[in-house]
Amino acid sequence: MPARIIDGRAIAEDIRGLCATRVADLVNRTGVTPGLAVILVGEDPASQVYVANKIKACDKAGIRSFSHRLDAAVSNKVLIDLINRLNDDDEVHGILVQLPLPPHIDMRAVLETISIQKDVDGFHLYNVGALVTGTTIFSPCTPYGVVKLLEHEKIEIEGKNVVVVGASNIVGKPLALMLMAREATVAICHAKTRDLAQFTILADILVVAAGRPNLILPQMVKTGAVVIDVGINRLPSGRIVGDVDFDGVRAKASFITPVPGGVGPMTVTMLIENTLQSAERLANAQ
Ligand code: GUN
Repeated sequence: MPARIIDGRAIAEDIRGLCATRVADLVNRTGVTPGLAVILVGEDPASQVYVANKIKACDKAGIRSFSHRLDAAVSNKVLIDLINRLNDDDEVHGILVQLPLPPHIDMRAVLETISIQKDVDGFHLYNVGALVTGTTIFSPCTPYGVVKLLEHEKIEIEGKNVVVVGASNIVGKPLALMLMAREATVAICHAKTRDLAQFTILADILVVAAGRPNLILPQMVKTGAVVIDVGINRLPSGRIVGDVDFDGVRAKASFITPVPGGVGPMTVTMLIENTLQSAERLANAQ
């Protein structure tokens, strides 16, 4: 039987609906409207689309967004001063700096300026390090979305062999830590891994975030595996595909995420969830 397709779009829609209800409840109870500040430096077309999607999703959930568009030539000081002002602004519960930043900007200094209480992307070193000890305030949105998809489908993680292909700071490394915390046995593979198939074939849960179309072929996947495709690649034809040979692997797997419509919609959803959680925590602390 072909794998069940995990409908990330529908799951994301459900979670966003629940968030909208929680936002309305928070506003009624406390008068606090959750607010997200979004900083975009420069004119990168992909970043502009991502930021527009984030702002649209906030609006739909009842979250106020504060958009800050800065010139590509902005100085480190101006950017850091802006973040410090947003750290002190009670109407802002989350701060997001869209990456990548222009090369002259000190990305680490910028991310480390964000208050850890407002770091809804989970990129501050505190939140990155706290993934190791299980004391994060915010988990990064894409890996958090992957975990939510697994939980939604009631896929057991504890004791399972998980192979993560891709060791980025945004997806692969944090996801590996989050799955270890749920007592999976985790292997991380990356661009330099020799004979990738000898690892992927052992996976009960295979997560692929390498950014290479057709990297994962059916013969590399164990029968009955759960396959989560985080890749987003645009082919010369304009078609968007993931890193997995979807049709071939679907015939062997038990669950599979499509691209588009799998992990993608969950990333923005977890940003909404993190921003709301931040507003709830800060409102309750008052
Ligand atoms: N660039 C690519 N993915 C992300 C993300 O999740 N957050 C931010 N801030 N920038 C990104």
